[in-house]
Amino acid sequence: MKKSVVLMLSLLALPGISMAAGDAAAGKAKAGVCAACHGANGKAIMPAYPNLAGQNQAYLETALKAYKNGQRTGGMSAVMVPQAKMLTDKDISNLAAYFSGL
Ligand code: HEC
Repeated sequence: MKKSVVLMLSLLALPGISMAAGDAAAGKAKAGVCAACHGANGKAIMPAYPNLAGQNQAYLETALKAYKNGQRTGGMSAVMVPQAKMLTDKDISNLAAYFSGL
């Protein structure tokens, strides 16, 4: 009885784990708008914009959340904050998975 409860709980936890890791394909589907500045392959269209391709996934996620919740200001953040505000936490995980994999 106890064993089957543990097994059930760990099976329930599995989809949660894969969601937290981000879905690169779903991220790609959301990345169209980002390409206007960060380029179709995550290489920025101009030197003043950051490249995203190959950046660490955890860093991308932290950066996007910081723009979204107003913790990241200064520099050219005024350009990026409205972009991040349109994203859900799940979008952010997916986009981070996508760009880090480029
Ligand atoms: C209108 C142009 C524009 C669009 C569209 C845009 N960004 Fe940005 N992004 C910027 C600029 C400019 C910065 C640098 C802001 C700063 O100085 O903090 C930036 C910064 C970032 C950073 C931080 C990079 C780093 O090295 O710290 C991430 C991550 C990011 N953008 C992701 C995205 C994603 C994902 C999208 C699409 C949902 C997106 N951006 C759409 C202009 C844009």
